[in-house]
Amino acid sequence: MALKLWEKSVQVNHDVETYTVGLDREMDMYLAKYDALGSMAHISMLQSINLLSKDELEILTKELQNIYHEIEDGKFVIEDGVEDVHSQIELLLTQRLGDIGKKIHTGRSRNDQVLVDLRLFIRSEIESVIDALTILFNTLIAQSERYKSILMPGYTHLQVAMPSSFGLWFGAYAEALTDDLTVLQAAYKVNNRNPLGSAAGYGSSAPLNRTMTSQLLGFDSVDYNVVHAQMGRGKTERIVANAIAGIAATISKLAFDACMFNSQNFGFIKLPDEFTTGSSIMPHKKNPDVFELTRAKCNKIQSLPYQITMITNNLPSGYFRDLQIIKEAFLPVFDEIKSIINMVERMIAQIKVNENIIDDDRYKFMFSVEEVNRLAAEGMPFRDAYKKVGLDIEAGQFTPHKEVNHTHEGSIGNLCNDKIVNLYNNILSGYDFDTYHKAFNKLLNK
Ligand code: ARG
Repeated sequence: MALKLWEKSVQVNHDVETYTVGLDREMDMYLAKYDALGSMAHISMLQSINLLSKDELEILTKELQNIYHEIEDGKFVIEDGVEDVHSQIELLLTQRLGDIGKKIHTGRSRNDQVLVDLRLFIRSEIESVIDALTILFNTLIAQSERYKSILMPGYTHLQVAMPSSFGLWFGAYAEALTDDLTVLQAAYKVNNRNPLGSAAGYGSSAPLNRTMTSQLLGFDSVDYNVVHAQMGRGKTERIVANAIAGIAATISKLAFDACMFNSQNFGFIKLPDEFTTGSSIMPHKKNPDVFELTRAKCNKIQSLPYQITMITNNLPSGYFRDLQIIKEAFLPVFDEIKSIINMVERMIAQIKVNENIIDDDRYKFMFSVEEVNRLAAEGMPFRDAYKKVGLDIEAGQFTPHKEVNHTHEGSIGNLCNDKIVNLYNNILSGYDFDTYHKAFNKLLNK
C-alpha cells in the first residue's frame, strides 16, 4: 500500500524521503490532537454542503473522536513510511472505515491543514503559558508586598546610585509581565483566525462554508483572503515567537539580577539551597546554576524570532516546503518557556532578602540625593544644596539619614501594586478562551 498520499506510479527514494520528512513525524505529534479537531470541523462543513451524507459524517466523526482520545492517551503514533500527521490520520480512517475515509480531504490541502493545526495548537499553548505566567505574577507581587519596607541600593552604571527597595525590585518584574501579556494578546488575536479552506493557498471550487468551520473551531473570524491565509504560515509563528521572546527577555533580566544579588559581593538575596548546586572542587560553593541556565534558555528563546525570520525572509507568497523547518524551532518553545516560568516562580517564592543591607557603610552615599532634596524642601536652591552635599562628601563629612520618604506613584513608599494587579487582570480579561473551549467540547460531544 502506498503510504504517501500523493504517491502514484513512481516509488519514492528512501534517502529522499528521510531527507524531506526530517523531524516532521516527531514535530507533528505536537499537532496531532488539533489535526483531528480540524478534521471534525471540516467534515461537518462538508456534510452541510452535501459532500458527505449524514451517516458518513456520523461514522467519520466518531472515528476522529476515537483517534483524538488515542492521541490524548499516548496511543497514537505516526508510523515509519507515513509522511506526517495528516497522512496518518487519513490512513487510520481508511484502514478502519474503508472508502469513506478517503472522502475527508475534499476541499482542503495539507497546506491549510497544517495552518489550522498550528493556529489551534498555538491558541491552547498561549493559554497555558498565561496560566503559568499569572502564578509567577502573583508570586512577584506577594514578594514585593512582603518586602516593601526593606531598602536596597539602586544602581546606575552598576554604581551605587539611590535608595531602592525589594518591594520595587520584585514589583518591577511583575509590572514588566503586564507588558508581555499585552504583546502576547496581540499575537493571540493575529493567530485566532481561521485559515482552513484556503486549501493549497488558492481556495477551492467546492462551495466551502468557511464561516461555519471558524465557528466550529472557536475562531474570532475567517482569515479571509486565501493567499493571505497561506502567507500567515511563518508570519504567525514569528509574531507569537516575538511575544514569547518578550517574556523571555523579562525573565532573563530577572535571572541576571538574581545571580548578581546572590553573589557574596552583593549579598542582597539568598537563593533557596535546593536551587543551588555545588562545585566539584570548591567545597564552599552554592552556585546559582538554575538562574544561569534560565538566563541562557531565555536568551536562546530570544533568538527564535530571528531564526523564523531567516527561514521565511526570501520567500515570495504561496506555500514552500521551507516552512516545515519552522516547526522544529518553534513548536518546542512553549514547553521550554513554561518550564522556565514554573522554575523561576518556585525560586522567587523562596528567595530570602538581606534585611540589613543598607547598614553597610559602602552604600551610605546613595542617600546623598535624599539629603539634597531635604535641604531643597527647607528652601535652599537645589543647585546650592547639591553643591553643599557634594562638598560634604568630598570632605568626609556626610552622614546619611537613612529613612526615605518617597510618596509618588510607583515609588518606594507607594508601590501601587494594587494598580498593577488591576492592570494585569484587565489585560487578562481581554483574552477570550471560553469560546474555543466550548467549541472543542461540542466537537468532542463533551
Ligand atoms: N509537512 C508539511 C509542512 O509542514 C505539510 C504540508 C505538505 N504540503 C506540501 N505541499 N508538501 O509544511
